[in-house]
Amino acid sequence: MPISGVYGPEDFGNPIHRRVTGQARARVTDAERARALPMPSLEWTPEVERATAHLYEKVKNVIPEIEWPFMAPYIKAINELKRERNAVILAHNYQTPEIFYGVADIGGDSLQLAREATKVKESTIVQCGVHFMAETSKILNPDKTVLIPDSRAGCSLASSITGADVRLLRERFPGVPVVAYVNTSADVKAEVDICCTSSNAVHVVESLNSDTVIMLPDQYLAKYVASKTRVKIIAWKGACEVHERFTGDELRAYRSADPSVQIIAHPECPPDVIAEADFTGSTAHMIDWVRNNRPKRVVMVTECSMADNVQAELPDLEIVRTCNLCPHMKRITLPKILDSLIYMREEVTVDPAIIDKARRSVERMINLKN
Ligand code: 13P
Ligand code: SF4
Repeated sequence: MPISGVYGPEDFGNPIHRRVTGQARARVTDAERARALPMPSLEWTPEVERATAHLYEKVKNVIPEIEWPFMAPYIKAINELKRERNAVILAHNYQTPEIFYGVADIGGDSLQLAREATKVKESTIVQCGVHFMAETSKILNPDKTVLIPDSRAGCSLASSITGADVRLLRERFPGVPVVAYVNTSADVKAEVDICCTSSNAVHVVESLNSDTVIMLPDQYLAKYVASKTRVKIIAWKGACEVHERFTGDELRAYRSADPSVQIIAHPECPPDVIAEADFTGSTAHMIDWVRNNRPKRVVMVTECSMADNVQAELPDLEIVRTCNLCPHMKRITLPKILDSLIYMREEVTVDPAIIDKARRSVERMINLKN
């Protein structure tokens, strides 16, 4: 059914939304310098070539040989420093192939990364993704050090709503349970009943046994969920700046050029895009769909580094490149990951009182039975 309403800051007398995306990137502080390890050599040598040959095998379809000598010294250094720092690297599916296959210990969608973050044994987590993902890891691991290689890696969804906005929504709709997409700040997670990701959003909404649910901040994910459930959905006006750029016309053009093409889309896309898709799901579900269905040609309507990662795994698949990049995800690079491990920066901190409240909503989602 159509969603029951879409609210934004202007509905509460705040025409301009104030929250900035991500945080300012600070210079290396004296404390970080004091615990720094020496900078490793970044020369391309036969030893580096040997040590990284097995990793190049995984990405050789998507990274030209000529580029590897610039990446491999960083990859070797990061993998060695990871052990020295007792660190684990979690990487989202939108990270570039040299990160996803070269240095990540665990890769996945937001739900998989949140679940894996609860099992980490190492004392430090380096989150290769955006700031809300690093905050989620910190919420689930308050005693560990969580680093993000560039804290400016924000998200247009997370920056569209604040904890204060959630309190105003609750005043407007007393008693209506609130579901927050994980693409939100810790402050917002602390104000809601439960979190969801694009993998489990319908299940989470239905688990609340309520005829009406507030779902924030992604109006398009809310519309997608509303089309799959009888629960009435009240939404927020947020949108993903990457997925909202896709259009139904663009997809119809791909389809008319090749009627056999398969189109798979992320639920952050607008409804006219989803209407054209043969399958809609989270990044992990999209990857599984391609693995299981092995289409000849596919349009992956999502961030384009994920297409590179899938192409690395399935070289025979023909992927129609849509090439919408997430500028926030792309802030994470090999040199910044190396800096992160050398200087132990940038540390993600969350107020302990917020952590306690936010953890309840994240854990309630993680513990939900299928
Ligand atoms: P997934 O949970 O599907 O990986 O999505 C996260 C995200 O930010 C998509 O834009
Ligand atoms: Fe946020 Fe969109 Fe980037 Fe995902 S792709 S992190 S939702 S801005």
